[in-house]
Amino acid sequence: MKQVVLIGFMGAGKTTIGKLLAQETGLQQYDFDEVLVNRIGMPIADFFDLHGEEAFREIETDVLKNSSAVEGIISTGGGIVLKGRNREFLKEMPLVVYLKANLEELIHRVVLDKRNVRPLATSKSPDEIREVYLPRVPMYEESASCVIETTNRKPEEIVQEILNLVGE
Ligand code: S3P
Repeated sequence: MKQVVLIGFMGAGKTTIGKLLAQETGLQQYDFDEVLVNRIGMPIADFFDLHGEEAFREIETDVLKNSSAVEGIISTGGGIVLKGRNREFLKEMPLVVYLKANLEELIHRVVLDKRNVRPLATSKSPDEIREVYLPRVPMYEESASCVIETTNRKPEEIVQEILNLVGE
C-alpha cells in the first residue's frame, strides 16, 4: 500500500496516527494542515480571521486535488469532507480511513491540545462543537473506505489495526 488517507473530526488523532504510521511503514507523512500553513504563510486561525473559512476551503480543496499521486500517509484537516467535490475525490482514493471517536472524547482532546488553535473548536462551548460535529458524521462515513474506532484506544493499537488492514 503506497497511500493511506486519514479523515475524521478535530481531535480524532489524524496527525498523531499519521506520524506513527509513517514511522512503521517508512512512508512519508503528508499533513494537510502543515501544507496549508506553509502555503498561506500564517496560522490557520489568522487566515480564517483575515479571509474567512470559504477562502481556506478553496485552498484545502486544491491541496487535496494535488495529492492523488502522493505516496505516503495523508493526514487531512477535519473539514475536508465539507465540500461535495472533496468527498467525491476521496471516494476515488484507494484507502481512506475514518478515525472515529465519541464526541465527549473528541472535545476533551481538542480542549487539551493547547498548541493547536482551531477556529471552529478552540474557545467554543461543547454545544457549539457538537453543532459542528453532527452534520459531518455522515460525510465522514460517506467518504471513507473503512472506519476505525479510536475511543479509549492507544495510538499504537490503532496503527496496528491499520497495518493489519493493509496487510503489513
Ligand atoms: C478544521 C480542522 C483543522 C484545520 C482547520 C479546520 C475543521 O484540522 O484544518 O482548523 O474544520 O475541522 P484538524 O482536524 O487537524 O484539527
